[in-house]
Amino acid sequence: MDKFPFKYDQSETARYMQFDDMPQPVDAVLESALRSVEIQGAEVLDYGCGLGREAPRLLSLGASKVVGCDPSSEMIAGAQQKLGEGKRGDAAVVNFDVVEKLPLPYEDNSFRGVLSRFVFHYVPDTKAMLMELHRVTKPDGWLVAVFSDVQFEPGFEHLANTDLPLEFPGGASARTLAKPGSEIIENAKAAGFEIVRFEDIPNATAAIIPDSYQYKDKIRLETGLLIARKKV
Ligand SMILES: C[S@@+](CC[C@H](N)C(=O)[O-])C[C@H]1O[C@@H](n2cnc3c(N)ncnc32)[C@H](O)[C@@H]1O
Repeated sequence: MDKFPFKYDQSETARYMQFDDMPQPVDAVLESALRSVEIQGAEVLDYGCGLGREAPRLLSLGASKVVGCDPSSEMIAGAQQKLGEGKRGDAAVVNFDVVEKLPLPYEDNSFRGVLSRFVFHYVPDTKAMLMELHRVTKPDGWLVAVFSDVQFEPGFEHLANTDLPLEFPGGASARTLAKPGSEIIENAKAAGFEIVRFEDIPNATAAIIPDSYQYKDKIRLETGLLIARKKV
């Protein structure tokens, strides 16, 4: 399969570092979602982990191991530098891997849970991605994801999956795709996940870059929270 097209390059990583440590409105929502799933003793994959922001949270909530993967070697190097690849006794409890394309380099049923924070709207083929996330999740395991969920004004649905430039606090920006949450839900179900919860939550993290996007009045940017379970 082709390499992922939207990985963060060196300059995006450098700008992302400037706001990665800031508290973000989604943190509380994510924490409460993670408390609602079986996280005690769980091996968790952080898909598109970036600078590894969620690894400490996952471990503090009781995960036994966190594996973060991201296509950007710059982001992974940043995560390794910031957090190290932690050990508890002889066991590695935090690992960061550069993964540039599917299939994922993990065995079937490797993880009790998968977390993915602000990644799905970078992924052109979410069907293939969700099938892979499903494959590496244990039966009855969970998926928790937050992502930009774009709603289109009637007549502008053709903008789905076209480029959408976003900016973050502190001036970081990135090219993403205008991804409707309905696509994620449909593909998650098709992959074999059962939807436990899907809702839009207030999004104060990312914003459309108005001068770079001519359709800014035709779409609404929300943040979708998905909690799903792999059917047994
Ligand atoms: C907005 S950052 C989020 C990073 C991290 N999850 C966080 O919340 O801080 C998006 C990340 O997705 C990664 N990415 C881009 N395309 C991807 C893909 N197809 N699969 C997995 N990750 C991808 C980028 O390299 C980048 O690190």
